[in-house]
Amino acid sequence: MSRGNSRSGKALERVHSVVKESQGSPIRALKRLMEERADVLSLAMGEATFGAPQELIEAAARALEEGKNLYTSTNGIPAMREAVADFAKRRWDVDVDPETSVLMTVGGMEAIHLAFRIVVEEGDEVLLPDPGWGMMRTVAERRGARLIYYPLARAGTWTYDVDAILERMTDRTKLVCVNSPSNPTGAVLSAEDWPRLTAVAREKGVFILSDDVYHNFVYDGSHSSALSHGELENLIVVNSFSKTFAVTGWRLGHVIAHPWLIHQMGAYKESISLCSLSIGQWAMSEFLAASDGYLDWSRALCRDNMQKMIASLKAVPGVSCPEPQGGFYVFLDTSALDPSSAGMTEYLWREGVAVVPGGFFGSQGEGCLRLGFAAPWEEIEPALARLQQALAKKHG
Ligand SMILES: Cc1ncc(COP(=O)(O)O)c(C=O)c1O
Repeated sequence: MSRGNSRSGKALERVHSVVKESQGSPIRALKRLMEERADVLSLAMGEATFGAPQELIEAAARALEEGKNLYTSTNGIPAMREAVADFAKRRWDVDVDPETSVLMTVGGMEAIHLAFRIVVEEGDEVLLPDPGWGMMRTVAERRGARLIYYPLARAGTWTYDVDAILERMTDRTKLVCVNSPSNPTGAVLSAEDWPRLTAVAREKGVFILSDDVYHNFVYDGSHSSALSHGELENLIVVNSFSKTFAVTGWRLGHVIAHPWLIHQMGAYKESISLCSLSIGQWAMSEFLAASDGYLDWSRALCRDNMQKMIASLKAVPGVSCPEPQGGFYVFLDTSALDPSSAGMTEYLWREGVAVVPGGFFGSQGEGCLRLGFAAPWEEIEPALARLQQALAKKHG
């Protein structure tokens, strides 16, 4: 059966290509290939594989037993939205009105789509980080936005350079996307930098879409949210339980924004998904208040894995490996061995190890590879050893 790469037939030919000829993300393609090749060891994961919290699973099982299987209201059950607001108070010391300012979504992904759908018109300029998560670019492209990239700085480690964002903000800019900690670089936007960005954006009437899905994984200090440094009138803060609680398959996230936007996004959501996972909402609303222990444990585990991974890679000749400030990934620079990240990824695939090519994340990511470390160390170690061997062989 065809994988769907060609289209012949009168009806199919009349369909417009939304994004040139859309190829889809190499990360999703890898996930499919990995399912076919059990012998390949993976460092390509974009999710935590160390298991969801037991209490959360038990709460979900209870919700199932209790028959909480029906539609919820579009914006989400009140208990869930209240738990989100309480969490925001506890973590970031911000007051969020659960009634008007929270919308539960099908993962962070749906929240991002809804935000673009409501805020961005065809031709609007959208500022995106380079390197940055490729899916954000895809959503912006599908909306017909004009994409303007701002570079992340690379001084030892990857960081946000607010001046690089401000320099690119013009009257045509509608939305600035920030992802802190960043996928793939781990760059974090600091508490000092946030107010500079939110103040100028507000004055110019520019929205900031802050993608906080990796918020729990900051390795030096604590996560700083846009919510603590601005006004809701131009902030759209996307969050998700996917990465935080290792439940990517649940497809449960949320967005905090101005009540008018929440209303518009909710109305649009009705025509897409009606509501978000009922079982997940019931379980999470019960569990979230007691989640600190798991959050601390998983952050410590990831920090430890990251440090061990960096130490191992430092011993490999011809590569350089900055320590990320946060997130799930090490962004390894292999450009001295092969300037093409796609070429390097293919070579490593033949050697039996899967990684994600940095070029997918933008021109500044070219020559780098994304390696995931949100897994039990026993899973990472053999894949890392194979990677080290393959890189040493390439170096010769
Ligand atoms: C930066 C970033 N934002 C959002 C998402 C989407 O997460 P989800 O839809 O599972 O919440 C991902 C997933 O990889 C991501 O890396």
